[in-house]
Amino acid sequence: MKKPFDFSGTKALIVGGASGLGKEIANALTAHGGDVILSSRDEQKLELISNEINDLDNTGVCSFAPVDVADSSSIKELMQQVSNISEGRLNILINSAGINIRNPIDKISIEDWESIHEINLTGAFLLNQLSFDLLRKADFGRVINITSIFSSVTYPDRAAYASSKGGLLMLSKTLALEWAKYNITVNTISPGPFLTEINTKVLDDPENYQKFCSRIPMTRFGEPNEIITSALFLASPMSSYVTGTDVIVDGGWTSA
Ligand SMILES: NC(=O)c1ccc[n+]([C@@H]2O[C@H](COP(=O)([O-])OP(=O)(O)OC[C@H]3O[C@@H](n4cnc5c(N)ncnc54)[C@H](OP(=O)(O)O)[C@@H]3O)[C@@H](O)[C@H]2O)c1
Repeated sequence: MKKPFDFSGTKALIVGGASGLGKEIANALTAHGGDVILSSRDEQKLELISNEINDLDNTGVCSFAPVDVADSSSIKELMQQVSNISEGRLNILINSAGINIRNPIDKISIEDWESIHEINLTGAFLLNQLSFDLLRKADFGRVINITSIFSSVTYPDRAAYASSKGGLLMLSKTLALEWAKYNITVNTISPGPFLTEINTKVLDDPENYQKFCSRIPMTRFGEPNEIITSALFLASPMSSYVTGTDVIVDGGWTSA
């Protein structure tokens, strides 16, 4: 048996890759030999993080290409750049792009509702759809959409976010059925609360932070690197019979 986490020769695109969970996964994939293209909106940040990763002693190479997933033409341009960088094929697409705006239902503006859905769900749909040709040309394909525990359980003030992530879960399961015949697996990772930028509002409010921690059986938020093994598992060529599934990484939240 080959080493399960040997990504030599594989090409990965990580959208939402310059920060938080995406950045940890990018670092881990290059450390295990994979070539990674980082993508998100902020080109300067992409360059900085890509250089940081290349300065480590990793065997894979990290490059970058910007995208705004709220704009379909930007996603098309990204795919053209990915094709140029990765010689017309893609093994691994990881979609970690996401935003959250917390409000009770009577206070959610239509603009906030639409931008959450545009980025978390429609953007994911377009990314998955437009990467199909490149995934199909690789010898194996892996899609990982980062959803949330709020795709299957929910919490007050999360109507827009939870509905977008619930949609992403079902989008992924449907694609798993459609793409099984092409040797492309499609899975999701549902994180619970992690110590990343998306939670700045909660982390900056000690009382709210403690309220969250008391809700988690492990009584703490996840460290960003605690996402790595689930991502490597689902991205690996060895997880070839795993598709349409959701890996929950939540310190026990959804079991309580
Ligand atoms: N951390 C948690 O507790 C947690 C829990 C459950 C689920 N998640 C999910 O995990 C994923 C990663 O989040 P994170 O925790 O790593 O937080 P993060 O550091 O805020 O990452 C979110 C990423 O999405 C990118 N992004 C946002 N809007 C975008 C757009 N329109 N086009 C392209 N990229 C865009 C951001 O980059 P730019 O702003 O530079 O574009 C950023 O890199 C998200 O989907 C989030 O919903 C996180």
